[in-house]
Amino acid sequence: MTSRELLIRDINALRRERDAVILAHNYQIPDVQDVADHVGDSLELARIAARIESRTILFCGVYFMAETAYILSPRKTVLMPDPSAGCPLADMVGLKQLNELKNRYPDAHTVCYVNSTAELKSEVDVCCTSANAVKVVQALNGFRPIVFVPDRCLGDYVARVTGKTLHLARGFCPTHHRILREQVLKQKERHPGAEVIVHPECTADVIDVADHVASTSGIIRRARESQAAEFIIGTEEGLLHRLERENPGKKFYPPSDLCVCPNMKKTTLEKVLWSLESMEHVITVDEPVRKKAAAALERMLEFA
Ligand code: 13P
Repeated sequence: MTSRELLIRDINALRRERDAVILAHNYQIPDVQDVADHVGDSLELARIAARIESRTILFCGVYFMAETAYILSPRKTVLMPDPSAGCPLADMVGLKQLNELKNRYPDAHTVCYVNSTAELKSEVDVCCTSANAVKVVQALNGFRPIVFVPDRCLGDYVARVTGKTLHLARGFCPTHHRILREQVLKQKERHPGAEVIVHPECTADVIDVADHVASTSGIIRRARESQAAEFIIGTEEGLLHRLERENPGKKFYPPSDLCVCPNMKKTTLEKVLWSLESMEHVITVDEPVRKKAAAALERMLEFA
């Protein structure tokens, strides 16, 4: 047996013993995606976390995702193999920026992208993910202004699609910001028949040259359904693993080799095993904050 096979054997034995389900985001390294019970985008993983029966959720992703799982499922033990896997976008906008926007637009609906802290979620009306942001904003009553935090790129994209005015915070995803329009256009020159699909955390000038804009699982769905044989994928490179595995005849190109989220790569098979052995690191949120954040997340799940 190789050391990888041994690790997988031990993980499989322990996950049964601990009654644990392993959830992995689409950006995780291939080994971790392959050992997970469910791989998905933020919305799919939040939905699974809200409804699964198992006692333990082992979350392979970044901190806000594990926190979201706990917020929706507080009776379960939520573990993260490496809790230092943060999200710079989530940490960019705190209550100070949200409160400034609320003071400027006191009647506003407040919408918070899930890539945010539990504290921020606890102070808004409703959450959204990249998969349902347009639906959530469309569902809001038309006359009140809308404050959207923390991602200004997703907010700008939603504003353009819905035709609504959104008052935005200043956050952005450093990984998606490394995707440049010129790189996408250069790839398009090399592969003229390729369809361009990008994540809405990309900047507006990248979104403008895309054929489709979608969440990570939305990108997978579009690639599966499309007649095209080649695709330029504007998001974190971890998504290419599923795209290639699920579409053997098709080719996928990243705009460059810089679309890597270092936090998403922190979780390894060794850390997954260690986490199940030691039942660490347990992720929780203080109950008053959790309750309020849960209300905003549950509203999202009802809306979209
Ligand atoms: P998805 O919800 O599309 O998976 O995106 C999560 C994310 O963090 C994108 O950077």
